[in-house]
Amino acid sequence: MAKPHASFVCQNCGAVSQRWQGRCDACGGWNTIAEESAASGIGARMTQGARKGRVFGLSNLHEDDRPPPPRVTTGIGELDRVTGGGFVPGSVVLLGGEPGIGKSTLLIQACAALAAQDRRAVYISGEEAVDQIRLRALRLGLAAAPVELAAETSVEDIVATLSHGKKPSLVVIDSIQTMWTDLIESTPGTVSQVRGAAQALIRFAKTAGAAVILVGHVTKDGQIAGPRVVEHMVDAVVSFEGEGGRSFRILRAVKNRFGPTDEIGVFEMTGRGLAEVLNPSALFLSSRDTAAPGAAVFAGMEGTRPLLVEFQALVAPSPLGTPRRAVVGWDNARLAMVVAVLEAHAGVKLGQHDIYLNVAGGLRVGEPAADLAAAAALVSSLSGAGLATDAVYFGEIALSGAIRPVGHGPARLKEAAKLGFCHATIPEGGPENGEVAVRDLTVRKCAHISGLVTAVTAGSGQSNEDQAKRG
Ligand code: TYD
Ligand code: MG
Repeated sequence: MAKPHASFVCQNCGAVSQRWQGRCDACGGWNTIAEESAASGIGARMTQGARKGRVFGLSNLHEDDRPPPPRVTTGIGELDRVTGGGFVPGSVVLLGGEPGIGKSTLLIQACAALAAQDRRAVYISGEEAVDQIRLRALRLGLAAAPVELAAETSVEDIVATLSHGKKPSLVVIDSIQTMWTDLIESTPGTVSQVRGAAQALIRFAKTAGAAVILVGHVTKDGQIAGPRVVEHMVDAVVSFEGEGGRSFRILRAVKNRFGPTDEIGVFEMTGRGLAEVLNPSALFLSSRDTAAPGAAVFAGMEGTRPLLVEFQALVAPSPLGTPRRAVVGWDNARLAMVVAVLEAHAGVKLGQHDIYLNVAGGLRVGEPAADLAAAAALVSSLSGAGLATDAVYFGEIALSGAIRPVGHGPARLKEAAKLGFCHATIPEGGPENGEVAVRDLTVRKCAHISGLVTAVTAGSGQSNEDQAKRG
């Protein structure tokens, strides 16, 4: 049993050490260790006289034939998509995001949408006064929605209040870092308080059958601030991301016990709050009227949804001994691999060149299927041959130089055709054009990386003939 003296807890990862240190041994964070009373942690009561266990009944997996309670759908399609078709009653979602990204705005809109369906939605803010929340709702045109508001930070008071009256469908706690529980002595925002408050709210969600959303602050490097343990305790972790200076926002599930984690929701911050973006492909393609060398459109997938994005490459002779490689929105290691394959199997000499690769619009692409588009952009920039503006690319490049088929070919081609693209370069063994029934789309199949290089340097169909000769 631990002695009832003070212990030192890392405010970042929750690791406990015996003495104060400048740097946490567990997570490497500097100046993150704070003194907390040892008797205040979870399980602290165990030391104050153990009681005999109570016998409880066990149930069978197959015994209960009742259908599960329906999900709580807000009607905001992009939000419902990310949660896997709506919030599960009794579940707890942690929503993380940088300050000012729009977490509070999104959640007040979700509450208003639910309240408009005659469900009880409660929004509890530990950061803003009720008048401030009202003012925001007024700006968003939601002031008439019967959302219940409170500015409150005591978890015990919140749970007591919510247990009265009609069962709430959705409870928003903005934010978990401002909440505190009487059971723990340390100040709000410390690891043990955040953990204790989260645990009390999770217990409330399970017993009341309400969906609870906890807003979590993130640190400078994008982690949800406070103990990582909270991420393990909740049912889903969702992050809200955006590029500085741009108005669109991406909602992404990082963990979801009740749905997929590869779906994204795309929103745009407008003067009247967050609006759903119904055609995200159009958003991620920059204006494409000229065939600038180094730009290739990737027909990608985000979860079950096809998404077209532009890969931009700049390849230039390097004045440095070790050429620079800078990648935004894609994997560094993946770029190194594609460059190596281009050198080894297609004779494209990139070793003495600086390479800059950017995914337009600030999206992060994680799919191996993007290899072909990245390779096309690199070769196009090196040779100065612009790719056709109405062409898309997808396919995974193997180390042997072979181009491998990837999933969801038909969906990718359909999306490309829908947005007015006429040419697609895809792997051998990918879907037949006829199979997909995509009209006005010519499909070129490429079995090996050398075929792609020949096609790109030959002007890729219809682009500049004289530039092609240079390549
Ligand atoms: P907010 O939801 O308060 O962010 P968070 O809770 O994540 O910190 O959003 C604040 C930002 O959103 C603020 O910079 C202004 C902007 N905004 C709009 O552009 N339009 C709007 O209608 C609203 C309500 C906010
Ligand atoms: Mg906020």
